[in-house]
Amino acid sequence: MKATFYGHASIGLDLEGANVLFDPFITPNEQAKAIDINTLKPDYIILSHGHGDHVADVAAIQKNSDATVIAIVETAAWVKRQGVSEEKIIGMNFGGTLQTSFGTVKMVYALHTNGTPDGQYGGVPAGYIIESGHKKIYYAGDTALTLEMKLLADEELSWAMLPIGDHFTMGIDDAIKAAGFINCKNIIGMHYNTFPVIKINEEEAKRKFAAAGLNLHLLPIGGSLAL
Ligand code: NI
Ligand code: MN
Repeated sequence: MKATFYGHASIGLDLEGANVLFDPFITPNEQAKAIDINTLKPDYIILSHGHGDHVADVAAIQKNSDATVIAIVETAAWVKRQGVSEEKIIGMNFGGTLQTSFGTVKMVYALHTNGTPDGQYGGVPAGYIIESGHKKIYYAGDTALTLEMKLLADEELSWAMLPIGDHFTMGIDDAIKAAGFINCKNIIGMHYNTFPVIKINEEEAKRKFAAAGLNLHLLPIGGSLAL
């Protein structure tokens, strides 16, 4: 299994039996110009919430790939309003676990806001726990540090994708606390450097995580990591 970084919070996972793409925001991202979205053929697109920097390329990639889109019900309703056919959309909600071709997807809490690009209510934002090939992977979505993360401490997470850019989400210091709350040492950073307000010092971030006994992976755009 592997993870591929497409910039911002857009991450692809090659899992056991299927490929998943989280939060596609690629064509509007100046830093991700090298990524051709027409080459992306996920089986599933999973959305943390409906903010534009997470859903910009959902409709185009879904059309190319015929992927099934998973989101919280109100954000799923926005996906339908983009012309994606109903049988290709799965709306779910907190606590729910979905059986898929690669394993399971459980929707968990995230502390953030959620509106869709057309100005409608997007429900609330979510994170996900993916279980595939005997590994559990947490995709936090956009979130602040929250005590709810402590509920994941006994999940035996192998990997966690955490936002670290600050301003719109937790920053480096809170992400280090989050890694402690969820009891996971292998972290893939996301939601940083895309915009001036979320610019980070990558070396300082890696040093701080290492000092806390954590492995922070910051992938180049288009770069992959074996999970
Ligand atoms: Ni957001
Ligand atoms: Mn965001």
